[in-house]
Amino acid sequence: MLNIGVLVSGGGSNLQAIMDRIESGYLKNVQIVTVVSSKTGVYALQRAQEHGINNTCISRKSFESMEAYDDALIRHFDAHKADLVVMAGFLSILGESFNKFYDKRVINIHPSLIPAFCGKGFYGIIPHRHVIESGVKVTGATVHFVELEADTGPIILQKAVYVEDEDTPESLQKRVMEQAEWEILPEAIKLYAENRLVIEGRRVKIV
Ligand code: GRF
Repeated sequence: MLNIGVLVSGGGSNLQAIMDRIESGYLKNVQIVTVVSSKTGVYALQRAQEHGINNTCISRKSFESMEAYDDALIRHFDAHKADLVVMAGFLSILGESFNKFYDKRVINIHPSLIPAFCGKGFYGIIPHRHVIESGVKVTGATVHFVELEADTGPIILQKAVYVEDEDTPESLQKRVMEQAEWEILPEAIKLYAENRLVIEGRRVKIV
């Protein structure tokens, strides 16, 4: 059984996609042991509550240092025996000790085709606004292993989505979630659970 801990910060549509895929049987031998939010009162926590999943808020603001914040998260996930940590719409940055403790055991979903439209400041609707303004014709989403710097780890899966002439940042965000994010995040977890991911330098091979 693969125990996953999920980090969230908002609506939780990616968390919902994982829960739905576990219930549908697509994700076998995978269970969500805890959901941790960086903010209180977000809908993602309510989704977890409705599914009877342990859930809590551990906010960076409640700690003097990044070290103390990392330590609290490590103790929480470790206490719940999380084997893999999934960042699903998580907007906080994690520090060195967390990345070291969970090295190659943290994955993130980002709403663009990395290395385009990513990094510090590119979250939520912002990547989609830049995509529209730049005039590119294709965007999408990326699942990658997490490293210290935002959106930089080895890429596991990507899925492209065409930009339509009449798109707004909001309509594009919705389609990228529906057609890419909610597909490739559960798929990446499945590949991880089946031990089919091999990291070779900056590349991830699917065996
Ligand atoms: C998603 O586009 C995700 O990629 C980004 O934040 C958005 C909200 O995700 N990081 P969710 O509905 O909270 O899962």
